[in-house]
Amino acid sequence: MRLNGSTALVTGSNRGIGHAFATELVRRGAKVYATARRPELVDVPGAEVLRLDTADQASVEAAAEAAADVDLLVNNAASTAGGNLVDGDLRAIRDVLDSNFHGTLAVVRAFAPVLARNGGGAILNVLSVAAWATVEGNTAYAAAKSAQWGLTNGIRLELAGQGTQVTALVPGMTATEPMKAFVREFGLDLPEGAMNDPAELVRLALDGVEAGQDEVLDRYGVQAKELLSGPPRAFDLSGTVG
Ligand SMILES: NC(=O)c1ccc[n+]([C@@H]2O[C@H](COP(=O)([O-])OP(=O)(O)OC[C@H]3O[C@@H](n4cnc5c(N)ncnc54)[C@H](OP(=O)(O)O)[C@@H]3O)[C@@H](O)[C@H]2O)c1
Repeated sequence: MRLNGSTALVTGSNRGIGHAFATELVRRGAKVYATARRPELVDVPGAEVLRLDTADQASVEAAAEAAADVDLLVNNAASTAGGNLVDGDLRAIRDVLDSNFHGTLAVVRAFAPVLARNGGGAILNVLSVAAWATVEGNTAYAAAKSAQWGLTNGIRLELAGQGTQVTALVPGMTATEPMKAFVREFGLDLPEGAMNDPAELVRLALDGVEAGQDEVLDRYGVQAKELLSGPPRAFDLSGTVG
């Protein structure tokens, strides 16, 4: 898919990887709807700002109506908290599943007809290596990302008929605030350059969309996918998958 001249909508674009997506899409010549549940926090020069809370069905539907020219949907918004499954807070577990699975699904369902009307277009879902290798201390997040991976494969199959390309971005640690806080909390001593720069990750992802790839993997994604053929493993937060 050619991004120059396309019309993209990014969820969760007020900070982190979503902000980097909206910024890079503007730079590549796309018309961009930069959305957030608190739109007053969005600062992306050149983008049109819309309110979109993936947990609020009315706001999802309103965004699909307002952004009827979208041909690239970037599902980035999600909670990265969650904690542990067995002894963690059940509300946090539901929240992380809701935002990653049900939130993404709500946006996909609202925008699938929009994409169809605009020639098929593309969807980019931001997954994580946690979909393939669980994370000690955040196993609920990993389960939510696994569910979002299944969702991504399912909608690729279902939307093939309307010509919608569905791409999964499967990255590892990326230097955004929650990830930096996680590293501090666990006292991790990461090697220099262990975390992706969000802007670099986004360039890799959008190159993949332009090339029509089903999956875009960073260095950690490549390692995590190789692990899938062996016994279940956890993601080693020292900077490598172990
Ligand atoms: N950073 C990493 O290491 C890493 C690695 C792999 C994958 N990822 C994935 O990358 C994506 C972005 O992560 P990030 O590191 O940039 O996290 P972040 O800085 O916490 O950003 C998350 C974004 O999602 C938004 N959001 C959460 N729930 C929402 C909802 N119901 N409706 C609309 N927006 C909502 C947040 O909005 P508020 O500001 O309103 O909370 C925020 O804009 C996530 O899908 C995450 O799982 C991150």
